Order: sequence, then C-alpha cells, then structure tokens
Amino acid sequence: MTTPQQPRAQWLGRWGFVLAATGSAVGLGNIWKFPYITGEHGGGAFVLVYLACILAVGVPVMMTEIAFGRRGRGSPIDAVRRVVTESGRSPLWSLLGWMAMLAGFMILSFYVVVAGWSFSYLWKMVTGQLAGSNVDDMVAIFAANNANPFNLGFWSTLVTLLTMLIVGKGVQAGIERSVSWMMPGMVIMLLILIGYGMFSGGFGEAWRFLFSFNAGSLTSDGMLAALGHAFFTLSLASGAILTYGSYLPSRTSIARTTFSVAVADTLVALMAGLAIFPIIFANGLNPGEGPGLLFMSLPLAFQAMPLGTLFGILFFVMLSMAALTSSISMVEATVSWLVDNKGISRRTAAWGTGIVLWLISTLAMLSFNLGADWTLAGRHFFDWLDYLTSRWMMPLGGLGMALLAGFVLKSESFREELGLAPHWHALWLFMVRYVSPLGILVIFVDALGIARVEFGMHWPWLLLLLALVTLAGEILSPRLRRTLAG
Ligand code: TRP
Repeated sequence: MTTPQQPRAQWLGRWGFVLAATGSAVGLGNIWKFPYITGEHGGGAFVLVYLACILAVGVPVMMTEIAFGRRGRGSPIDAVRRVVTESGRSPLWSLLGWMAMLAGFMILSFYVVVAGWSFSYLWKMVTGQLAGSNVDDMVAIFAANNANPFNLGFWSTLVTLLTMLIVGKGVQAGIERSVSWMMPGMVIMLLILIGYGMFSGGFGEAWRFLFSFNAGSLTSDGMLAALGHAFFTLSLASGAILTYGSYLPSRTSIARTTFSVAVADTLVALMAGLAIFPIIFANGLNPGEGPGLLFMSLPLAFQAMPLGTLFGILFFVMLSMAALTSSISMVEATVSWLVDNKGISRRTAAWGTGIVLWLISTLAMLSFNLGADWTLAGRHFFDWLDYLTSRWMMPLGGLGMALLAGFVLKSESFREELGLAPHWHALWLFMVRYVSPLGILVIFVDALGIARVEFGMHWPWLLLLLALVTLAGEILSPRLRRTLAG
C-alpha cells in the first residue's frame, strides 16, 4: 500500500498545468492527423462535428479525469483506488487506472516511431536529402527511411532517450521547465508558417476548405473519425491528463483549466491546417492525400517554394517538439506509479521505464521493415498497438470513468472537487451520465461491426434515444447506485 513519504509535487507556476496538459494534447494528432483526416472527410462540415465532439465528449471526460487525479493525488491506479474507496466502493475499479496506464504505454510505443519520422525528416531537411520531383519520388524516400531498421531504430531511440531525460528530471525541473519554452516556441513557429502560407497563393483556398460548411461532404465515417479523434487529441483515458491533474494545486478551477486546454488544442489543430493546406494548394497537391500528407506532399511543396528549406526545417522542428511534449506526458503515469509504489528514485524509474519502452517500440518499429510479414489477423504489431488503444482502450476507459463519476461515486466528491455552480454541475453530470457514454458507445458499435452507424439521416433518432436513456437513467439511478455499491 502506498503512503507517499513526501508531499506530492505540484506545478510551480500558474500556467504549469495548462502548458503541460496542452503539451500533452497538442501532438502528432493535431499537426499530422487532424489536417489529413479533415482533408479526407471533406473540410468544413467535418470541422464542425469535431468541435461538437470536443465539447460534448472531450471536455466533460477531461474534467472527470483531472478531478480523479487531484482528489486521489496519485498515478491513475492509486488515484482511482483512493477515490473509489473514499466512496465505499470496490477497489476493483482501479482496474480502470491499470488500463489507462497500459494504454498510455502502448500509445507511446508506436508514438515514438512516428515522432522518429519527424526527427529524421528534420535531419533530411537540414542535409538536403528531400529532393524529388514528384510525389512518387517522395514516397520512395519515405519507404527507404523505413526500410532500414537501424536508421528507423536510431530515430525512435533518440526520441525515447529525450523523453526519459526530461521525465527523469522531475515534474517541475523536467516537465514544467521544458514545456514552458517548447509550447510558446511551437506557437511562434506555427504563426510564422501561417504567415508564409499567406504569401504562397493558396491561403484563400485553404481557408475555404477548412471553414466553408458543405453538409453534403459529411459522411458517417467522417463523424466517427471526428469522435474518435476528439478522444485521441485530448490525450484522454491514457493516464496522462489524470497524472498531470494529480499535481494540480487545490485552488485551481478544473473547469476553467480544462476549457483552456481544449480551446488551445483545437486552435493549434486549426492553425496547423492553415499552415499546411495553403502550401498544399499552392502546389496543386491533393489535400485528401491521407497519412502521407506531412511526410510526402509537404516536403515536395516546400522544395518548390522560395526559402522552402528554411521553412521546412522550421516545420519539422515544430512537429518534433509537439511530439516530445506529448511523449513525456505518456510515461509520467508509469513513472509516478513506480516512484510511489516501488520505493525507487524518479531517475531509476524513468530509465527502467525507458528500457521496457525501447524494447516494445523496437518491435513496433520492425513492423516497417524486418517484421513486415509478422502479422496477426492482418495487422502488424504497430497497427495492433494503434487499433487496440484508439478503438478499444481509450473509449472503454473514458466510458468507465464517466459512468463511475456519474453513477457510482458519492456525488459530494465531485461536487467538491469540481466546485461548480449548481446549474453547471448539473450540466456536467448530464454529460458524463448520458451524452459522453452514448457518444462512446457509438464508437464501439462501429468497431465491433455490429452496425454501420449512419448519423447523417438518423440524428433525430439519436436525440430521441438520448432523451429516453436520460429519462430511464434518472428514474433508475438511485437503484443503480445501490446495485453497484459492491
Ligand atoms: N494527444 C496526442 C496528440 O494529439 C496523442 C495522445 C493520445 C497522447 N493519448 C495520449 C499524448 C496520451 C499523450 C498522452 O498527438
């Protein structure tokens, strides 16, 4: 059992948590994934649905996670256990914490490989190895970068080392200090890139692409992608936000900080779109290119533009920093759990975690070369890590935490921790009890292949379903509480 000897670390500055949590949230998901899925799903209407998902599912679940972390003052496992025991509920619920911590670790195992792409492309930009005259040339460069396990392994190892170096230094001296210059630096670079895009000749087209609402281009697939991405981009249910929340001073407003993080994350995603698409359009490339948008189309475009190399370098520095501020948050859960429970120093915990991470990420990295044939049910190890975490563990974890907070735990715990005015509290409760869980269930129904969820025409039915579930839930909830009291 845990009795931390010293008081738990807290963020030093007023902006410590917001910067660190935004650093966690803003990552490859914002700069790499958001632009390309927006491209694939047709632009403006997709952006609107994504914003709705952030508000309806992302924000309430994030508030819940931070509240768990701060009330339990520990790693996901310890914090959830403390909060449920406080309410007299079964400590078995801490399995949710285990799953979150495991998810964070699994995400990191493939994330360092993608972050490694970014670092290696930075190096290629600097040394002028990104020369090609068409997309096929760029595809060949990307393939060659992946084909050599020593090359790819070198870059993911570098990311692992940097991550552990920062986390090993501690919450204030490592994490807080590094995000307090990397985050502002990233935003400045992003603004410079947007300025560059404004003169490229493709800005108007990019603006229309991102913000003009064309309902016809929206598909069910797009809506589902928006929902899943809302989860991923806010780093939910993977231990990171909960652990960062455990360092939050008790006076800070959870609702306000959550809002700042969600807004900042969304702004960066939109700004990344405004930096990338003008360059894509100005060069007549396809915005719906998919995952290759950043590593194939974009370098090609930079090459054709005045001062392109310089801005290309700036771009990959920014992307690498965004990835790093995310990866440090993913190991923090594990490291803090080891420090609290195993009586080892932070440094030892960080390097121990790093070694295990290195082994698993190496296996993930091999999916691109030596292990190209090692598939199970049609998926590589790398794809499995991505699939299990983003389709299953993160939604399941979010669902569990929302229902736990909404129905199972004593309502005073969250009333105290969130400290909201009564009508805002009621809104939060409605969200975590009904809106977020229903949203998450939709992801499962689709992932299980039970049914293709067709929101397009059926949204009035979904609203009706929400109303019915709410009614039933409010009638049954006292009994539900007693049944789950185990
Ligand atoms: N939010 C990160 C991004 O957009 C990705 C992510 C998912 C993450 N889960 C996480 C980051 C957990 C840190 C911790 O790139």
